Amino acid sequence: MKKFTYSLLFIACFISCKKEPLIIKKKEPQVGLVSKNAMVVSARAEASQIGIDILKKGGNAFDAMVATELALAVAYPYAGNIGGGGFMVYRMANGDIGGIDYREKAPLASTKNMFLDKNSNVIPGKSTLGAMAVGIPGTIAGVFAVHEKLGWLPIEDILTPVINLAYKGIVVTEKQEKRIKEYQPQFLKANKEATLFNKHWKTNDTIKYPALAKTLERILKNGKDEFYKGETAKILARFIKDNGGIITEEDLSKYNAKWRDPITFTFEDLKIISMSPPSSGGVCLAQIMKMIEPYNISQYNHNSLKAIQIITEAERRAYADRSFYLGDPDFVEIPLDKLISNFYLNERMSDFSFEKATLSKDVSHGNVQVIESDETTHYSIVDQFGNAISATTTLNGAYGSKLYCSELGFFLNNEMDDFSSKPGEPNMFGLIGAEANSIAPEKRMLSSMTPTIVEKNGKLYMSVGTPGGSTIITSVLQTILNVYAFKMGMQEAVNAPRFHHQWLPDEIRMEPNLFDESAINELKKLGYFINEKDSRVIGKVDGILVLNDKSYEGGADHRGDDTAVGF
Ligand code: GLY
Repeated sequence: MKKFTYSLLFIACFISCKKEPLIIKKKEPQVGLVSKNAMVVSARAEASQIGIDILKKGGNAFDAMVATELALAVAYPYAGNIGGGGFMVYRMANGDIGGIDYREKAPLASTKNMFLDKNSNVIPGKSTLGAMAVGIPGTIAGVFAVHEKLGWLPIEDILTPVINLAYKGIVVTEKQEKRIKEYQPQFLKANKEATLFNKHWKTNDTIKYPALAKTLERILKNGKDEFYKGETAKILARFIKDNGGIITEEDLSKYNAKWRDPITFTFEDLKIISMSPPSSGGVCLAQIMKMIEPYNISQYNHNSLKAIQIITEAERRAYADRSFYLGDPDFVEIPLDKLISNFYLNERMSDFSFEKATLSKDVSHGNVQVIESDETTHYSIVDQFGNAISATTTLNGAYGSKLYCSELGFFLNNEMDDFSSKPGEPNMFGLIGAEANSIAPEKRMLSSMTPTIVEKNGKLYMSVGTPGGSTIITSVLQTILNVYAFKMGMQEAVNAPRFHHQWLPDEIRMEPNLFDESAINELKKLGYFINEKDSRVIGKVDGILVLNDKSYEGGADHRGDDTAVGF
């Protein structure tokens, strides 16, 4: 009888004490490519392969970065670019860290209200489609600055395989066929005539890029100045003017990439190294992780009710600050130390309770929504010498402004849309929300890109990042937590279903049909608004994890055509 009672007690305890159910998408392989020496993970196999070939030739992670970035401009014109910009953080084998900002800038002729009509309303489409949406591209300046400071191989060895790839062409994937088809009406709207991308490309067709190859050949011959001061600059400025834009040769000639110290912070025994403003990524990630840290999140199961609550409430508060405080540090004062201090962040979470959702309307600051495009691309590289880079690059929207310069062979960004076109109302302190990110000549627009490197106990642990607009930060966060707190491998962490909260709109976006129904119902009962409709995919995370035996596991996101290549 006693034994029976104990058994009942054990069963009752097993049912009531067991952690909430773990829901992980099972159909994708849960272990990524493992390699001993080096790895590149990017949105296309061709770009990862070119990066690895550079490493095999004796190049380092920075040489491979230049090659992979430019190969993505060929193989992944959806977001890879020379008509856009990005950010990269690095950690050298000796522990030195750094970051580079090759974000686009607003042209000299830009004005604060350039996207508003006479009634101060935002003119639909003006900051997203066509030449007015274009910011001064930074990618060529960025990769040349990296090569000059940190690269080993001659630039010819790096650019030649990319040029050959452009001539040889890229095989269209199923996903690419769908993407091109989806955007073709907009290509016709943005361009005066049909372009290469208005052909009916089908899966397994090969698209060749001779115009882009020729542009890259001139850049190889004349260096970065070709793009900013040479024939390419002249063609580009003329093309933008002919299409009603305001970027001039002077704008191009004045552009410079900028080295910036990354944001660093600790989370338990991790040190996180991420991008500083004008990306909001590092600051926001620091705020969220530091708000989460006191809750010992690993005691809860992955994507369980309480884990979702803690993460959501930290995200809500961090995104409220993001909208208010962050912008280009060359133009605005950002109270960085305060924003990521433990004292401030503990205070921010002090009104959180597991009993009910905090409402975003009760969280200061401002009332400006974060609306960002989802299309960007990320790649991670670790070389055979132990150097790691994490780089995120973008045209902003899918194929950027959709404006395609046929003579030069590339799309132009629509990054001007990442500025606040219409700063919001004064907050309780009388400050204007989003003023920090208003448009001004030569200013860089706020970004969410979060290229991140993680150390554990002082050693390289992970390189990670993703596209996804405002969901970038929360996707990077969840991937790090999946590995570190929820004990997943890199690929498993990348596969796992993701959710996102960004303060406004006050909703938890979830990848549909992948979360536990009972957790969703509980969340609703507690006052959370759930949206499973608007984010079929949240992020396309690419990452590299250092395993216990010092080999590398790649996580390449099946949500795209992303591929890890290693040796
Ligand atoms: N355009 C996307 C970002 O910069 O976050």
